[in-house]
Amino acid sequence: MAKLLQLYLMFSYFRFKEISSTQKFLMEQSFCQTPLICMADSQTAGYGQQGRTWNSPVGGFYCSLRYFLPYKSSLCGGLTQDLALTIVKTLDPEANFLKLKWPNDLFSKGEKVGGILVESLPHKDNCLVIIGIGIDLFNLGEVLGLMTNDNLLNLLAPNLFNCLKNWEIQPYIKDFLSWEKYDLFFNQTVELQNYGDNFLISGIDQKGRLIAKKEEKINFFSNTRIVIQ
Ligand code: BTN
Repeated sequence: MAKLLQLYLMFSYFRFKEISSTQKFLMEQSFCQTPLICMADSQTAGYGQQGRTWNSPVGGFYCSLRYFLPYKSSLCGGLTQDLALTIVKTLDPEANFLKLKWPNDLFSKGEKVGGILVESLPHKDNCLVIIGIGIDLFNLGEVLGLMTNDNLLNLLAPNLFNCLKNWEIQPYIKDFLSWEKYDLFFNQTVELQNYGDNFLISGIDQKGRLIAKKEEKINFFSNTRIVIQ
């Protein structure tokens, strides 16, 4: 009960059994600086990165948050990674079963089990960020136990809120080094999309850029993907 109250005090909360997309719903709400949260048990038109369909049957976790940041979205680099870190640290502090694949994927036992989508709406010199989180609870039941969507949200929301609150004044990842502990490919040689070459994955920097080495040269990437063989 105390946790629920905490959630309602932090965000204005919209809860649906079914919706087209929690992300689209928050995009369409009129401008306000109050943080908003929207959660649904299923989505009929859920979407992910590059507009790909996000299958959203009952039994998964589908939630979006909307937050006002007092600067332009060009400063938001790294927010996705900071939120991803916040989620895995909350659910698996010892990194026993959750991993991260840069830039925004949650993995468990070698399978993608979740993703984060950060979109932004400019507003004068500020922006609204809309953060969509989808988690495949079917594949995580074994490790998370019988957790309802509402329980999961109550667990995640305070920490996501604190993360966003920090970004209001410090738009970078303070604890970027902890990415290594969760990184699915840390210290492994992988192929990077559009570079057709192999690089040694070496973590992320404070703006969420992928650090990858080639012949001792350190490279920073914002726009690539790790190719899974
Ligand atoms: C990804 O492509 O990996 C990110 C997927 C994000 C899906 C979530 S589910 C809740 C929210 N509503 C949507 O339509 N998309 C996001």
